[in-house]
Amino acid sequence: MDASFPTFDTIIDRTNSHSDKWSKFPETVIPMWVADMDFDSPDCIKKALAKRVEEGVFGYTKTPQALESAIQVHVSTRYNWLISPADLVHLPGLVCALHLSVRVFSDEGDSIVVPGPVYYHLTKAPALTGRHVLNVDMQLTEGRWVPDMAQFEAACADPKSKMILLCNPHNPGGTVYTKAELLSIHTLAEKYDLVVISDEIHCDLILDAVPHVPFASLNADAANRTITLMAPSKTFNAAGLGYAFAVIQNTALRNQFDQGRMGLIPSANMLGLVAATAAYEEGQEWHQALLTYLAGNRDLLSQRLAATPLKMAHLEATYLAWIDVSALSLDNPYDFFVGAGVGVSNGADFGDGNFVRLNFGCPRSVLLNAIERIESALKNRECLG
Ligand SMILES: Cc1ncc(COP(=O)(O)O)c(C=O)c1O
Repeated sequence: MDASFPTFDTIIDRTNSHSDKWSKFPETVIPMWVADMDFDSPDCIKKALAKRVEEGVFGYTKTPQALESAIQVHVSTRYNWLISPADLVHLPGLVCALHLSVRVFSDEGDSIVVPGPVYYHLTKAPALTGRHVLNVDMQLTEGRWVPDMAQFEAACADPKSKMILLCNPHNPGGTVYTKAELLSIHTLAEKYDLVVISDEIHCDLILDAVPHVPFASLNADAANRTITLMAPSKTFNAAGLGYAFAVIQNTALRNQFDQGRMGLIPSANMLGLVAATAAYEEGQEWHQALLTYLAGNRDLLSQRLAATPLKMAHLEATYLAWIDVSALSLDNPYDFFVGAGVGVSNGADFGDGNFVRLNFGCPRSVLLNAIERIESALKNRECLG
């Protein structure tokens, strides 16, 4: 690694930074919940932000052309996906786009097909607005969490179904959908004429040598019925800067989306635009080093958990381990982990209370400390010899 990089091993004190992640639990608990890493953002982002802050005037801001070009280059080099700047909608976050899409492209009483357990906003967005969530079970098949395709077809065939909400790479579970899997989902979307909202926020966090295929890049029909949502925020640890983007290649859908957001969803944050431009233009080397480090953390966690009754399927992407604790027969798995000093996310929030989600986007020594806490809590329950 370039010697000028800060090492991902450095422990950064975030306790006085109003960090959401670090405010939730008492000091004795290691926070490993929300998808936010305990690493510095790359220098290119910090320098670009410092330069922009130095300018001192923070008025309404247009999207820099340089950002649109950088996104185009990013998705074409990494995903072989050709888009045009006109397809882009710049946003202050991705979750608002999920909620907006549900409201714009479906009506109250409609059904929305969602493979789950899944990041909770994919089910909240329909549920909060009088839509029915048709869950498609993610099943562990040959070591990967994938949707049950028979259930998928049954849900799509519901006459009230209007939309599929997809999370690819999947959070939690870390599945990177293969092209073949996406094509079979596309066959259903086309057959039943459904809009696809594809949340691809984790697409730059692939830890194995497998390609990310944007759903909209599959073919012309997919491009025509898909709203793709992406952001640099997870990858470059810049969620607090408020920037995400949608790619909507179908002009009619893009116009409907734009109409729907008018007056409700503000423009992207100025500093978010600056950070995103720097990240896509100059962040590649840091990004590659991050992926190597995260893969090391994943491997450490999965090796150590393999010696316990806890189960974690191989994670192809993300830094969010999905851990099956059902073998412990606990009344409240979440409380057990927090009691052990490891502040995980409650699996129930994603759709399965027999799981917890553990964020390993942290220095390795912190992860080791968390693993040791889990092992010792298991020993106390006499689950380990
Ligand atoms: C799948 C997924 N979508 C969206 C988000 C959040 O997006 P934003 O912070 O841009 O609203 C997250 C954050 O964890 C996520 O995991």
